[in-house]
Amino acid sequence: MARSTCSWRAVLPFCVCTPCISLVLLFAYATFVFNAAMIRLEGSAVGDSGPLHFVAPGTFSNGSFTQLPKTFWELHLHGDAIWNRLQLTMDRHFNPILRPENIKRASENHPSYESLQKQGFSEVTNLDSMRNQLPQQILEFMSHMHMRDYPALIQPDGVCGAGAKEEREAPLLLLAIKTMEQNFKNRQAIRQTWGQAGWVAGQWRNGKGGGDGGGHVRRVFLLGNGRNGNAGGNLSDVLRMESEHHGDILQWDFRDTFFNLTLKDVLFWSWFSRSCNRTLFVFKGDDDVFVNTPRMITFLRDQLKKPQAHKTIGDFMIGDVIAAGLPNRVCQSKYFIPEGFYKGQYPMYAGGGGVVYSGQLTRRLLHVSKRVHLFPIDDVYVGLCMLRLNAHPVHHPAFLTFDFPKGEKETLCSYHTILLVHKRSPAQIVKLWAHVKTSQAQCWDTPLRGRLEGKQTPTSM
Ligand SMILES: *[C@@H]1O[C@H](CO)[C@@H](O)[C@H](O)[C@H]1NC(C)=O
Ligand SMILES: *[C@@H]1O[C@H](CO)[C@@H](O)[C@H](O)[C@H]1NC(C)=O
Ligand SMILES: *[C@@H]1O[C@H](CO)[C@@H](O)[C@H](O)[C@H]1NC(C)=O
Ligand SMILES: *[C@@H]1O[C@H](CO)[C@@H](O)[C@H](O)[C@H]1NC(C)=O
Repeated sequence: MARSTCSWRAVLPFCVCTPCISLVLLFAYATFVFNAAMIRLEGSAVGDSGPLHFVAPGTFSNGSFTQLPKTFWELHLHGDAIWNRLQLTMDRHFNPILRPENIKRASENHPSYESLQKQGFSEVTNLDSMRNQLPQQILEFMSHMHMRDYPALIQPDGVCGAGAKEEREAPLLLLAIKTMEQNFKNRQAIRQTWGQAGWVAGQWRNGKGGGDGGGHVRRVFLLGNGRNGNAGGNLSDVLRMESEHHGDILQWDFRDTFFNLTLKDVLFWSWFSRSCNRTLFVFKGDDDVFVNTPRMITFLRDQLKKPQAHKTIGDFMIGDVIAAGLPNRVCQSKYFIPEGFYKGQYPMYAGGGGVVYSGQLTRRLLHVSKRVHLFPIDDVYVGLCMLRLNAHPVHHPAFLTFDFPKGEKETLCSYHTILLVHKRSPAQIVKLWAHVKTSQAQCWDTPLRGRLEGKQTPTSM
């Protein structure tokens, strides 16, 4: 039999390559679809609908990256630090892939988060041997880390803070200000100036006062118990009188220390959810900041007018966003977090000097916070909660939590370009407020500073 190579060659392409050709076509199609998807992705990342000032976690403003973990699949990533280990047990419990039944159960009947938190402590073994290496302040924090139900000592009279007068619509903004018993002067300055409750007009428009729109503003001061910490002796009677006079004090029975500030977040969220059902936005900040409230009101009104507002407002948080912060490892610092307690980067978070978020997000934060172990630094804790909500704070350069840039000359209208600046004394706050009021007619058309759409501003660390 003559084996005809020719005929084989003639046949081969047909019998072998029909599937072959299909595969090539399929591959070409997949490549096309993938590329098209990538182009769309890139488009949306730079388009004006994407989040502004987004810097991926792990990217520095100078363009370099943090080191990636050696093993991508390593489950115990940073697993030897105490907070990471505790949180890992919690995150696993609510991981929808590992434990779908827990997610379902959590939405049906409320699980006892407290017992879950405690369970974490019992699962994480050899805590005791790690304790020896930790500083006193962290040990103090850890000894009360599982506690967050502190009773209120003083509550505001109004339903949602001071300022409810003939409200025809839901309050636009609640000012929630962290303060301490002895900071009476700060509170007084704020009450007289940017923290006035009641109807507040927006910024001037077309050189005319009143602006377009305004909003009802409420105010509440957040305090712990100053006991043991006050040089001025027992201030609780004085505070009680202050509360009777102004009705804007919300004080809980925990020691008012730096590492306990996170309690002011979780307890405030809980109080807000019960008392401020209809309030649209929350400003949460320090008692040594200056806020340009009329601008803030107008800015928030504008947010509500955006076409997709009803969809995006549940994620709304804006402030001075720190994208790839690292824990402070200088042991003399007030922010010092030892490696034994927390390892890894901080999630993206908005600086605690002053941040604004929606009432809807407040309720979501309260909910998710029950699944996040307390962390000693309050603004980082909010970031840890946001991460678990898959929500991202948005940066706005008009929040100057690190003051005006060095070397920038102050002009008549400087304070009309900002929403917030840190830090100012009570006397400065009073002066600035008067200045902002008198210069309104001249500065009404000064735009807020530096929000260049689509451009990335460098991150502050
Ligand atoms: C970029 O910044 C980070 C953090 O500030 C620093 O560790 C790194 O060395 C910098 N890289 C370059 C190339 O300057
Ligand atoms: C401070 O005064 C209040 C009321 O007079 C009292 O209940 C409280 O126990 C006092 N606290 C301390 C630490 O003395
Ligand atoms: C936080 O407050 C609790 C209750 O008053 C107190 O026992 C604890 O020592 C405080 N924690 C820190 C770190 O100050
Ligand atoms: C506010 O309260 C009302 C009635 O109590 C409730 O129906 C509504 O869902 C609440 N709204 C929000 C946003 O929680």
